[in-house]
Amino acid sequence: MIVAGTAAVPGDKSLTHRLLLLAALAPGRSRLRGALTSLDARSTAGLLRAMGVRVSPLRPGADIVVAGRRRLRRPERVLDCGNSGTSARLSLGILAAHRFRATLTGDASLRRRPMRRVTEPLTLMGARFEAADPDRLPLTVHGGALTPLEWRLPVSSAQIKGSLLFAGVASAQPVAVYEPNGRSRDHSERLLRSFGYEVLEDSAGWIRFAPTGELRPFEVEVPGDPSSAAFLVGAALLAESGSLRICGVGLNPTRTGFLRVLERMGAGIASENQSEQAGEPVGDLIAGPATLGGTIVTADEIPALIDEIPLLAVVASRAAGVTRFHDVGELRVKESDRLGLLAANLRAVGVEAAAEGDTLTVAGTDAPPAGRVVTEGDHRIAMAFAVLGTVKGAKVSVDDMACAAVSFPGFSDTLRSIRQRSRSP
Ligand code: S3P
Repeated sequence: MIVAGTAAVPGDKSLTHRLLLLAALAPGRSRLRGALTSLDARSTAGLLRAMGVRVSPLRPGADIVVAGRRRLRRPERVLDCGNSGTSARLSLGILAAHRFRATLTGDASLRRRPMRRVTEPLTLMGARFEAADPDRLPLTVHGGALTPLEWRLPVSSAQIKGSLLFAGVASAQPVAVYEPNGRSRDHSERLLRSFGYEVLEDSAGWIRFAPTGELRPFEVEVPGDPSSAAFLVGAALLAESGSLRICGVGLNPTRTGFLRVLERMGAGIASENQSEQAGEPVGDLIAGPATLGGTIVTADEIPALIDEIPLLAVVASRAAGVTRFHDVGELRVKESDRLGLLAANLRAVGVEAAAEGDTLTVAGTDAPPAGRVVTEGDHRIAMAFAVLGTVKGAKVSVDDMACAAVSFPGFSDTLRSIRQRSRSP
């Protein structure tokens, strides 16, 4: 295919969740422009509405207006987080600091994902949890007054870190966390600093939060989601010719590890029009076809590209030689067992790939990919293989593209819009 033109991606998912939750606790009207309105964002908005926060309808293109209320109201029904781990884990931190009980659940995928990673430290702070399986939703949280916390995370995770920092905000208690294998996305830290909270990294690598700030209503413009942009960058790299500009993408270095890996593989990706939005660097990304070679993605690189591994793996399947992703065991507890599913789907379309222990290995090939992809409802698997399906001669069918709406509403239309089929003379 030939790529051409300009594309935009929906607002950043991680930032949208956090901004909705912080706006809910800031008494007064906050306004979010360009926020994500996908299914996951609607899950967070739905939880907040059930706890007395007025949140305007999430419609593409419309601002989101939140009437915050300092303290949330006891929900009268079970809170459904849908497919969204971020909604569940971040809101558990906030609920732990509220003197009422609330029950959270989610879809079948989310009910399989581990929750002890947040409930254990929140229990140490003073919250109480009830669940048939203490590591899984559905679970009931009994919140209240909390105490300070110092906690080493079992894995570097922005959801755990954010949950504990938000518990610190909602209870006005100091919280210190340590991430064992590199820094995960730092959106919570940046946002809290903008409200006057002290969030420092000490010389031993601990992130130390002190309740020195105050949540006030705000107006913000949300950058485009780099994790969504990654799929379009991938499509541009795999094209036969042309060039694509993706406008207004968040370029926070804790999110752009995929660009560093793609550049190492031989891609030339430019960024232009750099500015700042919501305390985050943003810019346009310009990408086009490249001759790619395999690479080794090391453990310390993983947190900054955790959501881009499906895309990087399909790109690696078109690169000369072998690509190895080390220490990607966390992928087994994402929206699906992404590690196993990625390897199985790559093999299903004719690529040599293996998931062994915590390592994913992909061997590049020139042969057009062909076969049927099973997504198990995982949005990033669906979008990654749709990108692979744009390769010349590909015959890839994806069993469920509707799940892309979890993070990237309109993905298939956007992918179509950047393609220009070569016309026969
Ligand atoms: C997210 C953190 C990451 C990421 C997820 C969003 C966030 O999860 O995979 O899509 O917004 O905090 P982990 O915290 O589990 O690494």
